[in-house]
Amino acid sequence: MAEPKRYGAIITAVERYLPDKIVTNHDFEQILDTSDSWIRERTGIVERRLLEGKPTSFMAAQVARRLLARRQLDPAEVELIIVATITPDMFFPSTACLVQDQIGAGRAWAFDLSAACSGFVYALATGAQFIESGTHRRVMVIGADKMSAIMDMQDRSTCVLFGDGAGGVLLERSAESGMGMLDFEMHVDGSGCEYLHMKGGGSLVPASHESVDQRLHYIRQEGRAVFKFAVIRMAQVSLSLLARNGLKPGDLALFVPHQANLRIIEATAERMHLARDKVMVNIDRYANTTGGTIPIALSEACEQGRLKRGDLLLMTAVGGGLTWGSALFRWAV
Ligand code: ACO
Repeated sequence: MAEPKRYGAIITAVERYLPDKIVTNHDFEQILDTSDSWIRERTGIVERRLLEGKPTSFMAAQVARRLLARRQLDPAEVELIIVATITPDMFFPSTACLVQDQIGAGRAWAFDLSAACSGFVYALATGAQFIESGTHRRVMVIGADKMSAIMDMQDRSTCVLFGDGAGGVLLERSAESGMGMLDFEMHVDGSGCEYLHMKGGGSLVPASHESVDQRLHYIRQEGRAVFKFAVIRMAQVSLSLLARNGLKPGDLALFVPHQANLRIIEATAERMHLARDKVMVNIDRYANTTGGTIPIALSEACEQGRLKRGDLLLMTAVGGGLTWGSALFRWAV
């Protein structure tokens, strides 16, 4: 059980942004040796959204504006903006800096957080610390990825899996005890780099004609290895976090898992003995938007009225790193 906190970090608003352009599995059939049935059966994905002509910061700023509007806040009331992304607009400045400027959050500081598909839960745990310690009142946590910027459209084993999108939450201070983030558990196994990475463009392999020719500026994944890891770790970290808080999966009102593959989600739910109606799934419409999946799914769940005050919410992800983690909340609004 976690130590008592000075303040609670509660989620007071959840928003999402999805680009308008829909690309279906049938569209991929036109350019690749693949089929709608292969993609559906192996992943649960039917279609995804792709962002054209704009960068990741555009989607993140849309989410930020919607969060402000939802709470009727002035941008100057935001003190910190964290953007979880692996597809920043550029190496520097961070995408969070660009969002700060685009929304005119003149008093905020801002930084990006890189933990691939675990980025949003990592950022949530990070942002909550600033609220719980009493140093901040309002922190924006956004997960945003334009995966189409690093998808190799000649590699059928990866490009069909991803999409573009963003979501985010506003974390605010609460004096009420036992509300908001209750606990989190995060992990890394850096030896898993070989299974999921993008090698080109950094200091290891700076951009060159050769790095482009070798297609090193695209995501590479050993799908089977990541699949096995995800199935074990998602359930393990979720059960561990619940157990150390004296809870069981049956106590949850909603489980929002990272949306990478429907089979991973189903296997995780099965290992946790969690009823299907408590598991949020929308991978069919958006595919894997990396940092975006959990806040996008949470935003849709809220719209569907699946959370009410006092409910327990668990969010869990696995991603490149390899990283994995889980965050437990008591819903406060
Ligand atoms: N269409 C048709 N056939 C395909 C496609 C495709 N799009 N992609 C691969 N295949 C073929 C392969 O070439 C292979 O053919 P072969 O048997 O003749 O060699 C066959 O299908 C089976 O390939 P596998 O890779 O073994 O298929 P698998 O059942 O493992 O499914 C998948 C692949 C969907 C990628 C799965 O492994 C997976 O979802 N892995 C986890 C992905 C994930 O969760 N990533 C983490 C997040 S990403 C992040 O952090 C940024």
